[in-house]
Amino acid sequence: MMMTSCLTPPKCAMASSSANTTINNSNGNYVHNYKKAFMPQRELRYQEITHSMPSQKIEIFKYLEDWAEHNILIHLKPVHKCWQPQDFLPDSRTTGDTDGFLEQVKELRERAKEIPDDYYVVLVGNMITEDALPTYQTMLNTLDGVQDETGSSPISWAVWNRAWTAEENRHGDLLNKYLYLTGRVDMSQIERTIQYLITYGMDPGGENNPYLGFIYTSFQERATAISHGNTAKLAKEHGDLKLAQICGTIASDEKRHEAAYTKIVAKLFELDPDFTVISLAHMMKKQITMPAHLMYDGRDHHLFHHFSSVAQRLGVYTTNDYADILELLLSAWKVETLTGLSPEGRKAQDYVCGLAPRIRKLEERVQLRDKRPLTSVPISWIFGRQVRVI
Ligand SMILES: [Fe+2]
Ligand SMILES: [Fe+2]
Repeated sequence: MMMTSCLTPPKCAMASSSANTTINNSNGNYVHNYKKAFMPQRELRYQEITHSMPSQKIEIFKYLEDWAEHNILIHLKPVHKCWQPQDFLPDSRTTGDTDGFLEQVKELRERAKEIPDDYYVVLVGNMITEDALPTYQTMLNTLDGVQDETGSSPISWAVWNRAWTAEENRHGDLLNKYLYLTGRVDMSQIERTIQYLITYGMDPGGENNPYLGFIYTSFQERATAISHGNTAKLAKEHGDLKLAQICGTIASDEKRHEAAYTKIVAKLFELDPDFTVISLAHMMKKQITMPAHLMYDGRDHHLFHHFSSVAQRLGVYTTNDYADILELLLSAWKVETLTGLSPEGRKAQDYVCGLAPRIRKLEERVQLRDKRPLTSVPISWIFGRQVRVI
């Protein structure tokens, strides 16, 4: 760790707690911690366990290399067939008719006026989640047996990782440019949040284990498909059909990605059901953390909670969606009818098969018990205006 030592606290020690990079060590000396400014202010939960997949299982992924080419890469679209952000945005090219661009921006801003603040909080949160894409590509490349070991590796898993990232890159790009043009949001605060989020990374508990990693991505792709699908629905209700089309188009990409990741895990269930069901139970016990759970804007230490709370209130992504996703994946992977499992595997099977009803019951109880009135919090993305949170 890079640290410098001194007897009196340097000036930075007097700064606000989030900027304070000076700590008192066991000798009573002040030391400068250069990492602190770049680390999340909250405790990371899943740092201890790494490389948890038994090394011989790497052979499974080598064996599946050919299978992945013919069964997974087919869920990608060739670049020339892909939509691009420009297809949905005012065209800024100078063609002798620059007013056309200004006119389109004006229309976009007129439509954007009709949409309430809390919708923007959710749309911005979704956009920031997409824009932290470098973190997700890093995460995929930590998984043993499927990494891109050179940066341009020709193995199917690496081709998937890069092409998946390239497809995903259009999501944040489109939403970011769209939101910039609306004039409804504070882009400086949004950009700051993206920088913090990429700096902080994520803590999903993947343990470099592709079983856990692909269970996580199956879940997440479905979650993002639901979330973008619901922002599309709400945009339509607010009369903005173009924004509805943007969110709906992104949602359909997420569904293609979901199909690929779900298929990988289905194959693991076919080849190695015991370890796969144990991995599923292990991941569900940790709970699937959202990719942007470490988001911070330099002001609100509960920003992710506030964003998810508004998403829950608007019905964009809810606890019941979480339970629905689990049920859908269990049925896609036919977990209930798995046979020939070890005692540990059967225990894992029982646990995951009973989990969705338990989540729903718990949520019902929370709703019944929670009679607190909604409170309002300021959100920097919308210039500090207040939104109601649960
Ligand atoms: Fe995406
Ligand atoms: Fe996705």
